[in-house]
Amino acid sequence: MKEITFKINGQEMIVPEGTTILEAARMNNIDIPTLCYLKDINEIGACRMCLVEIAGARALQAACVYPVANGIEVLTNSPKVREARRVNLELILSNHNRECTTCIRSENCELQTLATDLGVSDIPFEGEKSGKLIDDLSTSVVRDESKCILCKRCVSVCRDVQSVAVLGTVGRGFTSQVQPVFNKSLADVGCINCGQCIINCPVGALKEKSDIQRVWDAIADPSKTVIVQTAPAVRAALGEEFGYPMGTSVTGKMAAALRRLGFDKVFDTDFGADVCIMEEGTELIGRVTNGGVLPMITSCSPGWIKFIETYYPEAIPHLSSCKSPQNITGALLKNHYAQTNNIDPKDMVVVSIMPCTAKKYEVQREELCTDGNADVDISITTRELARMIKEARILFNKLPDEDFDDYYGESTGAAVIFGATGGVMEAAVRTVADVLNKKDIQEIDYQIVRGVDGIKKASVEVTPDLTVNLVVAHGGANIREVMEQLKAGELADTHFIELMACPGGCVNGGGQPIVSAKDKMDIDIRTERAKALYDEDANVLTYRKSHQNPSVIRLYEEYLEEPNSPKAHHILHTKYSAKPKLV
Ligand code: FES
Repeated sequence: MKEITFKINGQEMIVPEGTTILEAARMNNIDIPTLCYLKDINEIGACRMCLVEIAGARALQAACVYPVANGIEVLTNSPKVREARRVNLELILSNHNRECTTCIRSENCELQTLATDLGVSDIPFEGEKSGKLIDDLSTSVVRDESKCILCKRCVSVCRDVQSVAVLGTVGRGFTSQVQPVFNKSLADVGCINCGQCIINCPVGALKEKSDIQRVWDAIADPSKTVIVQTAPAVRAALGEEFGYPMGTSVTGKMAAALRRLGFDKVFDTDFGADVCIMEEGTELIGRVTNGGVLPMITSCSPGWIKFIETYYPEAIPHLSSCKSPQNITGALLKNHYAQTNNIDPKDMVVVSIMPCTAKKYEVQREELCTDGNADVDISITTRELARMIKEARILFNKLPDEDFDDYYGESTGAAVIFGATGGVMEAAVRTVADVLNKKDIQEIDYQIVRGVDGIKKASVEVTPDLTVNLVVAHGGANIREVMEQLKAGELADTHFIELMACPGGCVNGGGQPIVSAKDKMDIDIRTERAKALYDEDANVLTYRKSHQNPSVIRLYEEYLEEPNSPKAHHILHTKYSAKPKLV
């Protein structure tokens, strides 16, 4: 590759052709402020916070989009640069709702950080502000125009990463706004509730619909038994809210904190993930051996479910009929656990802690009720759990490690890896291979489906007579590509497909702790958080296959009878149907 020689702040540098000034500066440990820039996703040069001076040029240039050229001399910290950045920031702030003390993103706001870093202490430009609307009709996402800074990061993520494109820019100049089409609510367009817009918003213009007060109210109600369950990916990221390095698993402290918050029982969604594998694995074997609809596609991700219902309804028969681990756990608690503990399901409140904002949509779906009772009553995100722990003044870092409560707290390594892309597939193959071969296979690390490649294809010989062809994809754009391949008949020999709406799977879900664009330049959060889960699988948990979970074995013996039994079907499976084609 051709190399470019140039100077930055007087220092000579050689970088590959095509490198931007921003990238080159970071290679030389020089930080340039950014706001609209989101690596590989939103590189549009809109906010002008990254302006730099190029010797001899009249205009300042946006470092995030300006490629270095031979012989140029770049200044990143001249008086002209500092003044221009400060004025640009003051202009952005002049149209921003600056109620920072009550903003959900206070202390984790890229705009606030820039104002501090650039020494902006008052705003000389005051006048009418443009955005006023607050759209809180969606079950998952709240949009507040008064805080939007028009960086368009949400627009790019929604369109290019998720392939959903429900957000766009309308108007010009002062009237510019980021909105769904015709200024509809997010509840009335083809939004899949994934929350990727939230975790890529630099400010508080997008946030999850909070259900914290509903949880506090349930805990305070003496007539209710309040049971909590936590998804696999939560333990891999919750620690970040309390200063732990990314990739630190905090399972034990999380269980301890939940107990101190006042939940009556602390259970693990991983138990439901193990049951999910029993049901889904059996369903797959049935479809392969009895000629059912293939390829079978996983149904754990509620964002993906809404995606297929909205954009590819003709492919719904490919979905596994299994509910998600969240709803499997909830349905078992409202039925088996309630029965064995003499609790009226109407007096039980099941709360789920999820890395996901689409789970808030999932819990209120009629398809996911059993005999008229919602499987899960309230779903809150990892971020909301962190806020509850902080509000309760629990010193999270000082908590001892505690276990989940018995029975529904027991899980395997197969379940914990559900939180990473490829994890459901790997867990299913571990069980399917053992069941079909009638033995305990030792080689169970299916590296071939791990990692963050957008679409992974693999063939695994599960028995001497059966090789299964597998596809794993994550993130809406990759999912759409797989669905187009399916539509074109290119996946006719594929047996099983795992699809997750969020890039990297649940570890990078829309309900996870928010990482700044600057930090995302240096680390791949999908990989770092997934490491915590693979470590629990390999080194912490006693069992690594769902069918070896002693509590799951007991559940089938004393209640469900066998996987895919009529009872299991009644409680743990569902049917999906086409959604009206929204814009
Ligand atoms: Fe470069 Fe916005 S213009 S970060």
